[in-house]
Amino acid sequence: MVTIEACQYRNVTPTTLEHARQAFADRHPQSRLQHAAARAVLPGGHTRTVLTHLPFPLTLVAGHGSVLTDADGQEYIDLLGDYTAGLLGHSERRVLDAVAAALSTLASVGGVHRHEVGLAQLMCGRFGLERVRFTNSGTEANLMAITTALMYTGRKKIMVFHGGYHGGVLYFASGAAPWNAPYDFVVAPYNDLQGTLALIDQHAGQLAAVIVEPMLGSGGCIPSAPRFLADTFAAARAVGAVCIADEVMTSRHGPTGLADLLGAKADITTYGKYIGGGFSFGAFGGTAELLDQFDGERPQGPGRRVISHAGTFNNNIATMAAGEVVLGEVFTADAAVAHTARGEELRGHVASVLARHRLPVSVSGFGSMMSLHALAEPPRTPADAAGRDDVLQELLFLGLYQRGIYTAARGMINLSLAVTDDQLSVALDALDDCLGELAS
Ligand SMILES: Cc1ncc(COP(=O)(O)O)c(C=O)c1O
Repeated sequence: MVTIEACQYRNVTPTTLEHARQAFADRHPQSRLQHAAARAVLPGGHTRTVLTHLPFPLTLVAGHGSVLTDADGQEYIDLLGDYTAGLLGHSERRVLDAVAAALSTLASVGGVHRHEVGLAQLMCGRFGLERVRFTNSGTEANLMAITTALMYTGRKKIMVFHGGYHGGVLYFASGAAPWNAPYDFVVAPYNDLQGTLALIDQHAGQLAAVIVEPMLGSGGCIPSAPRFLADTFAAARAVGAVCIADEVMTSRHGPTGLADLLGAKADITTYGKYIGGGFSFGAFGGTAELLDQFDGERPQGPGRRVISHAGTFNNNIATMAAGEVVLGEVFTADAAVAHTARGEELRGHVASVLARHRLPVSVSGFGSMMSLHALAEPPRTPADAAGRDDVLQELLFLGLYQRGIYTAARGMINLSLAVTDDQLSVALDALDDCLGELAS
């Protein structure tokens, strides 16, 4: 929602925004050309809606460690971390070596192989899962988790949350999107426990599952309020619904993911992003009772149908080999705990910089994921987040770009392991400078 009237600063106006977009376009002639050519064959110029922003997204040509280079040769400190998928930075040698070695023996193989079971063992051990299955994306992992619950319960309704995002066809930014997969959704209010419990009560005998992010990621890095997740799961379980935690982004927090840190135990958890070390990845895991519905060797009988879950690339060699190194060597439980603490520290520094300026800009998040909001206070609910000043938000984004800092248009920042302390100091100075200019 645009609330520019509320913003009193002469450097924060639709006119200054037009100038900032024009300056961005002028600084990036090669990206502008690339974008024009791309739009002739790719609607919007690419295949990830989230990358769209005015005047056009940059074409990237290289990434090393935490530094990105665009088609015009300009460099950026990458604070986006590919929306959490780029946790390792751009050139983690151990992952690249392991993938090269695995691919030199088996590339595309219609059979089982040791990397698949290796990664499954690591995931079960790390996240306390009895069983796990792999997919190609977080979207698919969530679709399969929902399928698992529908088949197990024989019910039809799926509880989701306003502001939630579980994939391209599981999108709830403003209620259920019309292009969503055709499930029977009940959309509940995130961080409103009473409202959620009332809906669980209302749909008690029909709820197959509740699926929820422990922190809304694309919804603005809004963490579950204390008890919201745990009490929602407890109430859902009490009416026989399956509790699904979407940790596609948030499994990086603490040793075993954010749901555990919030004291909430899921029946099925979904994973994605960084675990594939830069390769397409998704997984869903949980109790044997639920997941063994996929076990074709189990005896069938009344109420015991085997669910078929095929997928040519579900166990692709590159992802499986990369994932083994990610969880087994690079992002161990200890490393995850340290990274969560480093992220908390960074968010504290960002908040201190924001406090030096009179602008209505705040930061929300948890651990190594955070979001800048053109709002005086960090949002607690998706409705709060929707009240941001869109002009100020975009000026902040373009201003950081101009200063060599790469973030998401919506303000998201995801700290990667590759970003150094010196680079964080540079980024914080850039934020300070940008806010100073906007506030003057
Ligand atoms: C919480 C959450 N779930 C699911 C997804 C979908 O994952 P993918 O983009 O791999 O399909 C995303 C992607 O951003 C996400 O943030």
